Amino acid sequence: MVDVIRIENIARHVGQEVTLQGWLYDKTDKGKLSFLQVRDGTGIVQAVVFAKEVSPELFDLSKRIGQESSVEVTGTVRADARAPGIPGGFEIGVKDLRVVQMAADYPITPKEHGVEFLMDNRHLWLRSSRQWAVQRVRSTVLRAIRDWLDSHGFMEVSTPILTPSAAEGTSTLFEVDYFGEKAYLAQTGQLYNEANIFAFGRVYCFGPTFRAEKSKTRRHLTEFWMVEPEIAYCDFDQLLEIEEQFVSHIVQTCLKERAVELKFLGRDTSKLQNITPPFPRVRYDEAIDLLYALREKETDAEQKELLKIEWGDDFGAPHETALAQQFDKPVFVVGYPTAVKAFYMELWPGRPEVCKSADLLAPEGYGEIIGGSERMADPDLLVKRIQEHGLPMEPYKWYVELRRYGSAPHSGFGLGVERTVAWICGLEHIREVSPFPRLLNRLYP
Ligand code: 4AD
Ligand code: MG
Repeated sequence: MVDVIRIENIARHVGQEVTLQGWLYDKTDKGKLSFLQVRDGTGIVQAVVFAKEVSPELFDLSKRIGQESSVEVTGTVRADARAPGIPGGFEIGVKDLRVVQMAADYPITPKEHGVEFLMDNRHLWLRSSRQWAVQRVRSTVLRAIRDWLDSHGFMEVSTPILTPSAAEGTSTLFEVDYFGEKAYLAQTGQLYNEANIFAFGRVYCFGPTFRAEKSKTRRHLTEFWMVEPEIAYCDFDQLLEIEEQFVSHIVQTCLKERAVELKFLGRDTSKLQNITPPFPRVRYDEAIDLLYALREKETDAEQKELLKIEWGDDFGAPHETALAQQFDKPVFVVGYPTAVKAFYMELWPGRPEVCKSADLLAPEGYGEIIGGSERMADPDLLVKRIQEHGLPMEPYKWYVELRRYGSAPHSGFGLGVERTVAWICGLEHIREVSPFPRLLNRLYP
């Protein structure tokens, strides 16, 4: 019996006879040689079939295999710096080849395809090397998130997806019929985590969240993954320190464990190397001044128009991009106007027109990856804020009650997985980060 190996470990098997179980990614014929690019889910390796070393039937078969046929290849591993593949630098001298299922007319060929075509074929597109590399980075991000939180005293708690109330504005709610009552898909697990911390101290929820985003942008999905840590006895400054350590850990883990994938994606990793604490902090007021100055200097009329802003406005993508470009690390923008933020944020002492909110903006134009805040402590003020937002009181009764039984200063944040991965991978559009993205005009496949 020859051992089945995985391509990501191929360096350990040079000189050995091994078997690969995978799929035919691509193929080149050169007379008496067939070069098969075989992938197995962990990488791609070149398998060389030489007419003189195999039976005529096997050589003929190697020329007939269709793209994406499932194959088992047995042969000897050789190191060869010129051999293509991921990671590359190795090839297999084929001794035996078995086609498990012969595929024909695979729709995604090496030629260029349009995005809509590829999205319609997402179930197959996931096999393409770029898409594969992005999902590998994503899985490492998911693991790095859990590793950091689990080793810093956080406990994972599951929060409900079906909820009776809105937490992040009523304009992006997905409504579902709940036995004749109205329910909504969760925009966040935060409110439940504020209950959980008073039972467990430090918690996080991690899973899909839903927003009925009616606009098409490069940064919005209707279903995305968010990790939401919530911490009891934690003030605003402590919150920002936790966030910068957390994000740095995620980035550094990807650099260490996904170097091959990031290189394949063509990512300039020098821009990620310096993502270490501390991150710069800018007050919203200062950010507005900075934007005025940038707009003043701007020579492109269209860009100048896009940068228009007044104190009190929320930032749009152009503002976030322009601000983030001033720094080579993620930047915290703190103290946003209370009016543009959610009802649950603590007010700034002595300045109720701004709140203890912090958005973390990623470098290189990737925009907000974290939204966080210290939470409002005073139950009466909280009731007033809920009313000001035009929300019904009934579904929030339990939430306000938390402030009456052992309340303590507490803070938390939510990090969007897809935006974070898009930034780390250097992608144009967030849709490539989701294995099966949900967008305004897309529910298939
Ligand atoms: O700023 P948001 O809306 O904050 C909350 O939901 C808080 N309840 C979190 C908390 O304090 N526990 O969303 C947090 C992050 C954003 O910074 C962004 O990364 C991501 O979630 N996000 C989206 N990602 C993709 N598509 C969308 N439509 C997103 N909306 C938010
Ligand atoms: Mg936000």
